[in-house]
Amino acid sequence: MNASRIGVSLPKNLLDKFDSMTGDMGYANRSEAIRDAVRDYMLRNELREETGERIGIITLIYDHHSHGVSDVLTDLQHHYTGEIQTSIHFHLDSHNCMELIITKGEAKRIKEIKDKLTAVAGVKQSDLIITGIVEY
Ligand code: NI
Repeated sequence: MNASRIGVSLPKNLLDKFDSMTGDMGYANRSEAIRDAVRDYMLRNELREETGERIGIITLIYDHHSHGVSDVLTDLQHHYTGEIQTSIHFHLDSHNCMELIITKGEAKRIKEIKDKLTAVAGVKQSDLIITGIVEY
């Protein structure tokens, strides 16, 4: 690894919490924990640049009694067969369904899919996890 050493000032209580948390997570040293934290931060925020191939996991919770919601969600997903790899549906209770949609493609396309699904009437909650292989 071609590494640069840097000096960073952090509030003591923040560093104490970070060390305690990453220690519990199993990190043997602080540098490794900070490297992973920085990578994670960059991956989460690079959606703003909206470039590069990524894996996106979209979660939706919706009320299947809400008129036509299942059909609209299915129709929408058929427009993105290039990106959508698979989906998992499960019934949370007598009203609510959860759908987990695994996508692969340009980050901006994944975000577009998430936004369109979220905007469907009857969808109560949604989330998007962006991940992928990063070279940094
Ligand atoms: Ni269901």
